[in-house]
Amino acid sequence: MAAFAGAQAADQAQSYDYTVVRQFAFMTVVWGVVGMLVGVFIAAQLAWPALNFDIPWLTYSRLRPLHTNAVIFAFGGSALFATSYYVVQRTTHTRLYGGPLAAFTFWGWQLVIVLAAITLPLGITSGKEYAELEWPIDLLIAVVWVCYAVVFFGTLAKRRIEHIYVANWFFGAFILTVAILHIVNSMALPASLTKSYSAYAGAQDAMIQWWYGHNAVGFFLTAGFLGMMYYFVPKQAGRPVYSYRLSIVHFWALIFTYMWAGPHHLHYTALPDWTQSLGMVFSLILLAPSWGGMINGIMTLSGAWYKLRNDAVLKFLVVSLSFYGMSTFEGPMMSIKTVNALSHYTDWTVGHVHSGALGWVGFISIGSIYYLLPRLFGREQMARPQWVELHFWVATIGIVLYIAAMWIAGVMQGLMWRATNPDGTLTYAFIESIKATYPYYVVRFLGGVLYLGGMLLMLVNCVMTVTQGRAVQAPIPALPAHA
Ligand code: HEM
Ligand code: HEM
Repeated sequence: MAAFAGAQAADQAQSYDYTVVRQFAFMTVVWGVVGMLVGVFIAAQLAWPALNFDIPWLTYSRLRPLHTNAVIFAFGGSALFATSYYVVQRTTHTRLYGGPLAAFTFWGWQLVIVLAAITLPLGITSGKEYAELEWPIDLLIAVVWVCYAVVFFGTLAKRRIEHIYVANWFFGAFILTVAILHIVNSMALPASLTKSYSAYAGAQDAMIQWWYGHNAVGFFLTAGFLGMMYYFVPKQAGRPVYSYRLSIVHFWALIFTYMWAGPHHLHYTALPDWTQSLGMVFSLILLAPSWGGMINGIMTLSGAWYKLRNDAVLKFLVVSLSFYGMSTFEGPMMSIKTVNALSHYTDWTVGHVHSGALGWVGFISIGSIYYLLPRLFGREQMARPQWVELHFWVATIGIVLYIAAMWIAGVMQGLMWRATNPDGTLTYAFIESIKATYPYYVVRFLGGVLYLGGMLLMLVNCVMTVTQGRAVQAPIPALPAHA
């Protein structure tokens, strides 16, 4: 623990609280490895179903939510906690508000993750995608999240720099919205300690669930990571944000538009038709703010493009933006009803998810942690800087294999399912589409192995950096600066 906590100096109040940032940053990598290991395992199960060994807690249905919870909330969540706590302190010249509250959010969040890792394989689930955890864990999440909000907004309130840097706007919107989403969608009537029933029913339940689900994408998997982008891309590139004005327009346009797009997950269902069309239209509009933000991030490199040649951390950050652009172009296309008629239920959706998840969320987090870790442990750079470059290439090849395989498989499945003979009967039986998908599942598995391999390399590199370094206490500048 000493390696993470640093010296307990008397002048603690004059330094930033890096302990909680160090803990979350390191756990990001640990949970990344765990979550992706489960991802690789379920990818293997889809190709070779016997791999569940007839053990209930190893079945695909139980491990799939374990994978999504581990990568989104444990890996992505820890990265968001680490970076938001770091950025809010550095950009306000203030130590985190709330004393031990920040430490509570760390241990509380770890407890949530451990409870998820125990209950999901046991089959204890509410059955709502991305909100599977049962009510006692939901309550714990709500408590931890409210404390997170108190620490973050409390720090902003006692800031020593008047201007609130745009990264904090994105982190703030993410924290606030996730609190509302989680509390509204998790409303349930407990029947026992491990079973509850949703407060909503039928089409209303579906609507609330995908209002939650889509905004989980918009605010958990996007807004918070845009906060990372606005801090770490300019820092690593050594350039100011391309257009600060655009970043403000980006912020308001994005958070306004995301809220309405949820029904695109429910095309051709019992949902009123007008809500589906509304979801589609807002999804198409969403392309504009998404690309505005991506362009703002990429153009920050103007005049510094040459740095990309030798800077592997910058490669992670910039390529993440390319994947962000790709998935936010693909998403609006998939939300068009006629396109969705082909893509829905197929692996095309899984390809879309992972171009966003592996390319955008994964790469921006990995790049930010590579930036942070040496600075938190008093080192110039990672213990093995060449491995960062290797990680980048291995992971990039992994993503390309994964998403290309899923795109081809998805379109093929969609076309096979809708093919009819002249007499109106189906051309293919369902099982034929599964047989045809097999080679693509093997390629996806190989892509996953490469991506996981890169994460393992990162973990070893991080352990070496931590053990060879020492926890630093960074002093807060004495005079308040005026931005
Ligand atoms: C080594 C890396 C990874 C592998 C091999 C992998 C594999 C998988 C597999 C096999 C599925 C199930 C697909 C299906 O049901 O047909 C899945 C689903 C999912 N994964 Fe991953 N995954 C990886 C990393 C990630 C990461 C880093 C994230 C998020 C940050 C992520 C988010 C998701 C989500 C949201 C789903 C549900 C998709 C849906 O319902 O359409 N995955 N993953
Ligand atoms: C402009 C932005 C985006 C739009 C309009 C959009 C639209 C869509 C659409 C239409 C679907 C398919 C729904 C279905 O047929 O069931 C989908 C699925 C999904 N997208 Fe996106 N997407 C966007 C960006 C992203 C990004 C950046 C990520 C990840 C970081 C992401 C993650 C997901 C996930 C996890 C699902 C699967 C949900 C599920 O069924 O479990 N999306 N998106």
